[in-house]
Amino acid sequence: MIITLDGPSGSGKSTLAKKISKIFDITHIDSGSIYRAIAYSFMINEVTEKDYQNHLKTVDIGYEKNGVTLNGKNLKNEIRTSEVSDLSSKIATEQFVRDFVDEKIREIANKKSVVVDGRDIGSTVLPNADYKFFIEADVKKRATRRRIQLKRKNPNSDINIREVQEDLIKRDERDKNREISPLRIPEKAYIIDTTNDSIKDSIQKIIKVIKEGE
Ligand code: C5P
Repeated sequence: MIITLDGPSGSGKSTLAKKISKIFDITHIDSGSIYRAIAYSFMINEVTEKDYQNHLKTVDIGYEKNGVTLNGKNLKNEIRTSEVSDLSSKIATEQFVRDFVDEKIREIANKKSVVVDGRDIGSTVLPNADYKFFIEADVKKRATRRRIQLKRKNPNSDINIREVQEDLIKRDERDKNREISPLRIPEKAYIIDTTNDSIKDSIQKIIKVIKEGE
């Protein structure tokens, strides 16, 4: 079984995908974390833009049960900073970066049941998925959620809600307007608006679609 969840930043798709993976006992792939791992590798190795493609040929990025790895080491909070968010959204406009990520995802999805979240999974990466969802929410709500997430990871930080919202809008615009694989509602996707729903409510809506489709 292949389930895809696409949508803008902070819509709740990763949280929902993680829950779905537990309910159906299938693998969760957070595709954004792979873009983040690539950006992180460029950052810590101080790779300049002209060398991105060569660096990517040598980099060891994997995806395991506990998430994305760089040289065998699990990446967690270090890929959740605003610098990595910004660079990952910039490099996601490059075809060679997208090819690298798509290949990793397809390799896993060919072997087992998966739930994958991202921006172009149902439209481009796995267009033959069994169930496609597009997760959306009001921008203010998304910014509030992202701020809570960032605060949880870094309790001492002083994160301004306006800055978080501006950052989300900037990344959304980049994702929607890029030439290759822009953020789109995939064909035949079910739209789930999470603005006023709890995680439990949204999960119930998704499960209902999956159960009724069986
Ligand atoms: O989902 P997350 O915010 O972790 O993703 C980081 C960045 O990776 C996004 O801002 C987006 O530009 C890019 N991305 C993408 N396609 C995907 C997943 C993420 O372009 N399928």
